[in-house]
Amino acid sequence: MCGIVGYVGPKATLDVLLGGLRRLEYRGYDSAGVSVIGAHGLETRKKAGKLDNLVAEIAAHPMSESHIGIGHTRWATHGAPTDGNAHPHLGGPTQKLSLIHNGIIENFAELKAELLAEGAKFASETDSEVAAHLIAREYEATGDLPTAFANVVNRLHGAFTILVIHEDQPDVVMAARRNAPLVIGLGEGENFLGSDVAAFVEFTKRAISVGQDQIVILRADSVEVRTFDGHPVTPEEFTVDWDASAASKGGWSSFMAKEIADQPQAVADTLMGRIDSDGLVRLTEVEGLDLGLVMNLDRLIIVACGTAAYAGDIAKYAIEKWARIPVSVELSHEFRYRDPIITPNTLVVAISQSGETMDTLMATRYAKEKGAKVLAICNTQGATLARESDAVIYTHAGPEVAVASTKALTAQITAGYLLALLLGQMRQSLPAAELMALGQELLKMPARVTRVIEELEPAKELGREFANAKSVLFLGRNVGFPVAMEGALKLKELAYIHAEGFAAGELKHGPIALIEEGQPVIVIVPSPREADSLQPKVISNIQEIRARGAKVIAIAEEGDTQVEAYSEHVLWIPQSQSIFSPILAVIPLQAFAMELSTAKGLDVDQPRNLAKSVTVE
Ligand code: G6P
Repeated sequence: MCGIVGYVGPKATLDVLLGGLRRLEYRGYDSAGVSVIGAHGLETRKKAGKLDNLVAEIAAHPMSESHIGIGHTRWATHGAPTDGNAHPHLGGPTQKLSLIHNGIIENFAELKAELLAEGAKFASETDSEVAAHLIAREYEATGDLPTAFANVVNRLHGAFTILVIHEDQPDVVMAARRNAPLVIGLGEGENFLGSDVAAFVEFTKRAISVGQDQIVILRADSVEVRTFDGHPVTPEEFTVDWDASAASKGGWSSFMAKEIADQPQAVADTLMGRIDSDGLVRLTEVEGLDLGLVMNLDRLIIVACGTAAYAGDIAKYAIEKWARIPVSVELSHEFRYRDPIITPNTLVVAISQSGETMDTLMATRYAKEKGAKVLAICNTQGATLARESDAVIYTHAGPEVAVASTKALTAQITAGYLLALLLGQMRQSLPAAELMALGQELLKMPARVTRVIEELEPAKELGREFANAKSVLFLGRNVGFPVAMEGALKLKELAYIHAEGFAAGELKHGPIALIEEGQPVIVIVPSPREADSLQPKVISNIQEIRARGAKVIAIAEEGDTQVEAYSEHVLWIPQSQSIFSPILAVIPLQAFAMELSTAKGLDVDQPRNLAKSVTVE
């Protein structure tokens, strides 16, 4: 939510800033802006709408060559997405200071009143501009930018990443972080700042994750980190393992199309080095959790939002089945407001692609306060969630840019299986041979995902065929239920049409009343090959809705000889054990939603009103 980039060094700053913003645009795309300091002092351009509008504005009004600057892409909170409310905001009567902000300054009203009483003039309705004026005023008083900056950030309440440059100090970018993300990229004779490493991964793989309530003084040849109260911090450097090309579209029609196709790699990379060939899971990352806790776990609570929560639902089936631990899956924003039961033997598993979703961060902080250990499943190195958890299983999906999650989900589901198998191994809740057979089966999934990706055309064709649908329903049972929910979410996010996922067994208890002639219903059909298969029950559900006029699209396993007779269309997926099928079944649903949205002429990468990383509650 809001993307931030900063640069100081010899490169053409504008190119670095715009390239960084392009890679961060998924964080918000209501407006964008940049400030640089060049031969003519501070220059700023900003524009409502997507980044291309800013690029056009700069083409119409070129900016001077510069070696220092800041850039911002906005997801509006305070103030509508207008040119005036776009960042950067200038501070003070001389307008020599430029500021960008991600987050919400909760005490902005009282600070604004103080400034108005002194005669300050405001150019926007944002909370952020208040900070710009305060720092400019403080700089006039103290003559020292780091001091002025620290004095002001100490007065701000709420969540913020703030970057500031000042015309009188053209060699330094100041940054502060509280409850919003900020990472530093370390270069040779140049340094970078970004909301996440995607902002600068093209230029450097050396990074530092800035801690809570810390200030950064960034120069071309030095990086200084201090606490808000002035104590020096020795930050820990890490190496970014994302490939820079992964954050570019590379010839695909959209990031989403590319990220759907990236899934075999995302699943394979998430498994890599974590299961040996005989199927034994080795997750050294989890060693941070003590064995006593794992043996004595009385429950496991998964917290997550959006698509990540559906990964959690799937993990629940696997953990309960293989490790025999009761699991509840909670939407992060609901979890902490209802006085949940957390004991010292509770493990909280937080799933988040970005590792910056504020709701999930607040849920995990709450759980930690109550004494629980937190294990994160996260895709972004250096993210706040990873820093604040007791242990992290990284998914290796690479940067996900399209707002609607695809490859991050299949990687999260994969990590969930790994965790479930590991817990099963540690607790010996199933015979070792059985767990190892499951591990070997899991190793076969990347090849099966490849086959699904190679055969997506029928799903896309259906997306085009149903472009005018007003509503699509999704039905699934057992692990197919979260898949149905995710299929519906994708369609809501991307195509803005009514879509709902139901547990197929629930149909007769209400949802069947929605079925009328021609209603498209996508049904996730379980494998018929297992002894306790739910396939016959789902076939019955299909018959019930067809009798009432539904048009059925089945997602079914190859070799299911029955399903064709009961469905208008069948999208086939390779055979696998039922519990692993979500990784396969969800992919045609992603392609269906993407194509339906494209057929409607919508932007699949940047759907309206959404932001990829929601860093406010
Ligand atoms: C937003 C995005 C979703 C995402 C959810 C959780 O709502 O639009 O695509 O699933 O946040 O994001 P996270 O980064 O925590 O996985």
